[in-house]
Amino acid sequence: MSSNSYINLAIFASGKGSNAQEIITRFKGHPKIRVALIVSNKPEAGVLGIAQGEGIDALLIERERFLKGDGYVPVLKKKGIDWIILAGFLWKVPASLIQAYPGRIINIHPALLPNYGGKGMYGHFVHEAVIKAGETESGITIHFVDEHYDHGQTIFQATCAVEPGDTPDTLAGKIHILEHRHYPEVIERLISQ
Ligand code: GAR
Repeated sequence: MSSNSYINLAIFASGKGSNAQEIITRFKGHPKIRVALIVSNKPEAGVLGIAQGEGIDALLIERERFLKGDGYVPVLKKKGIDWIILAGFLWKVPASLIQAYPGRIINIHPALLPNYGGKGMYGHFVHEAVIKAGETESGITIHFVDEHYDHGQTIFQATCAVEPGDTPDTLAGKIHILEHRHYPEVIERLISQ
């Protein structure tokens, strides 16, 4: 735990940030855990607007430094970050960061891993592939992050039906409901252990 006695989370996100918003809301006023930083690789990402609206510090990261440089580890350490929460973050996490936060980086994936994961499998591409394959079930996977895409140990899964007539959009809607319901709660449980 950091010296300020809070457990500090950094949320990494590349997009709209609806999961980030749910996590921020969950820990607002929490006695032990707080979202201390939002990290994004995209200047136009909606999540940066959320950070601003919530009064949370934001960090825009640059590709070379993140993937091949120090992985922003000194910046995260200086901020007292204890856990890294990926919520729709689309760059691979470099070894420098994994080594600096062993067992303390988690991700949410919008499918039932080990299926429909890996490079290029994010957001709509996942839902399109699930529907195209004729699956009758999909879901979410919350897992520890290792050096391979969508590969680390599973922490939690939840499922939903894929029904005839579902489109990538309707399936994305069902998945988001599951994510918002479970991700903040699973994070809290894991961190409080
Ligand atoms: C979420 O559905 C998340 O599972 C997915 O991106 C979406 C982000 O939505 N992540 C991946 O596909 C990672 N491979 P949000 O910006 O509204 O939270």
